[in-house]
Amino acid sequence: MQISVSYLTSFYSKAKTINLIASTPADYLHVDLMDGLFVPNKNFQINEVVKLLKDYSLPLDIHLMTLDPINYIIPLKELNPEYITFHLEATKDIIKTIEVLKENNLKVGIAIKPETDILELMPYLTFIDLVLIMSVPPGAGGQKFLIETPNRIASLIKYRTENSLKFKIEVDGGINNDTIPLIKNADIAVVGSYICKSKDYNKQILNLKNSINNIDYLL
Ligand code: DX5
Ligand code: ZN
Repeated sequence: MQISVSYLTSFYSKAKTINLIASTPADYLHVDLMDGLFVPNKNFQINEVVKLLKDYSLPLDIHLMTLDPINYIIPLKELNPEYITFHLEATKDIIKTIEVLKENNLKVGIAIKPETDILELMPYLTFIDLVLIMSVPPGAGGQKFLIETPNRIASLIKYRTENSLKFKIEVDGGINNDTIPLIKNADIAVVGSYICKSKDYNKQILNLKNSINNIDYLL
């Protein structure tokens, strides 16, 4: 399982947090962008995000919690991200958004809120590279992992296998050393406060990796 680290909630400034993440073996830097419309909080200006991130070599996993995600694709392309993920609930132009991402040679992710039926993803799964299952309501770090998430992962894995599809499954929200065993069949875990609200980022990543197969916590 790969680890994507979110710098949304941290003891330090964004720049210092990202520097600390860059010194760990994290697989991706998870970039949470919130517009104050799709979710209540707003946390970015597009030019500031580009300035903040343009000098890092860590692969970027961008999570758009915004309406009209299509508007952010061209400005963010400058960062050469690995994935840009938008919310199924954030636009009526899902196919168009997928097309624009692909025209720009970007890998396409679709995120889904906890209350949205997994079946709503089905029309798009052939065309995309990643599904981001939210295991908390989008909009803030430090929330509690929702226990229905493992069933949602299992349904998607079943559909993926039956249809010989290749999309990756990423899970985001409330992941720590207790909850990571519950999502061990997913491909990528997004982890924010468990790492960035600690003093030792490397130690926390090691704890996560060592906990993946630990079933003591499950009951
Ligand atoms: C929540 C964000 C998450 C968040 C995860 O809306 O999408 O990426 O930063 O933070 P933790 O790991 O603290 O739940
Ligand atoms: Zn996120």
